[in-house]
Amino acid sequence: MNVGIASIGSYIPARRVSNEELSKTVDTSDEWIRSHTGIGNRHIASDEETCSYMATEAAKEALDKAGVDKNEVDQIIVATITPDYRDFPATANLVQRNLGIGNIGSIDVKAACTGFVYGLELGRGLILGGTAKTVVVIGAEKLSAITNWNDRGTAVLFGDGAGAAVLTSCADGEGIVDSVLRTDGTGYDALNIPAGGTATPFIPGETPEEDLCIYMDGQRVYNFAVKVNVEIVKDLMERNGLTSDDIDYIVPHQANYRIIRAASMRARIPMEKYYLNMEEFANTSSASVPLALAEMDRKELLKKGMKILTVGFGGGLTYGGNYLVW
Ligand code: UT7
Repeated sequence: MNVGIASIGSYIPARRVSNEELSKTVDTSDEWIRSHTGIGNRHIASDEETCSYMATEAAKEALDKAGVDKNEVDQIIVATITPDYRDFPATANLVQRNLGIGNIGSIDVKAACTGFVYGLELGRGLILGGTAKTVVVIGAEKLSAITNWNDRGTAVLFGDGAGAAVLTSCADGEGIVDSVLRTDGTGYDALNIPAGGTATPFIPGETPEEDLCIYMDGQRVYNFAVKVNVEIVKDLMERNGLTSDDIDYIVPHQANYRIIRAASMRARIPMEKYYLNMEEFANTSSASVPLALAEMDRKELLKKGMKILTVGFGGGLTYGGNYLVW
């Protein structure tokens, strides 16, 4: 027996902000954003569209599509770096409340843009270990709430949204066949929120507002991202006796078109194998991989037996990937 994705759902805020619209308030241009990132639009959540709201809506759609009753769910895992409440309670607790199901476990995973990749393997482990039969894994982010809108180096990159997968048991050789989960904690300061944690507590009147928003050393993260994209794809292929010809799709974290193009050239894997949708949704951190999978599902691109690699990379610095047989 193994564990696989029975269905995938998503939630995307209706408000769509184009590069042109953003250029009215941020010192940037459509030309710069497109040529440096491949991003054309992003969806921005309203005040009512909290992280837990978007996560719940994505979970409901996934449960509906799988034909799984909500009362069959044993565990909710929410991957997010933009929880409704700063440290606790977990956003997964609020999703459990919103769904109105009791007697189950719920926990958040904080692995930034690799969060959904981690969540899938953790969910798989819970089912294989016998703790759960049905797990909902969600990647949900409201990055607009922690964006420094005065920093053009980051303000143009991010968007909001959520994607959710229902995990249930499946036949051996199908589903989530393998995962690699990695971290380089020496890079903790390349991409983070500098203040507000216990290392640098928030002090009213003293803590600069921008230190409570996303900070990123873009170049450092870019170089890391290209390197680990190649590493994860190669390792997953080697560990599973695959060549690039065997792979139907690679679904990477949707941060930047240039990162993926550089990784594709280094790994000698054609760009056509990479599924990209950052043009529409920008970088949604842990929501980006499930949002891409949900879009592929909607477009009926995912066929039974297809071999798919996911790749996550981001703050932490975390990285990893899953080998899925659909
Ligand atoms: O999800 C987590 C993973 N995150 C990532 O993977 C992001 C990784 N990093 C990147 O994708 C790239 O580093 C960025 C897209 C963030 C930046 O691209 P870059 O080619 O590294 O640009 P840069 O930061 O070196 O900036 C080049 C120039 C600078 O101007 P000067 O100093 O050359 O005059 C910036 O001030 O571009 C300027 N610039 C902008 N100009 C217009 C930076 N941001 C903008 C902007 N609009 N939004």
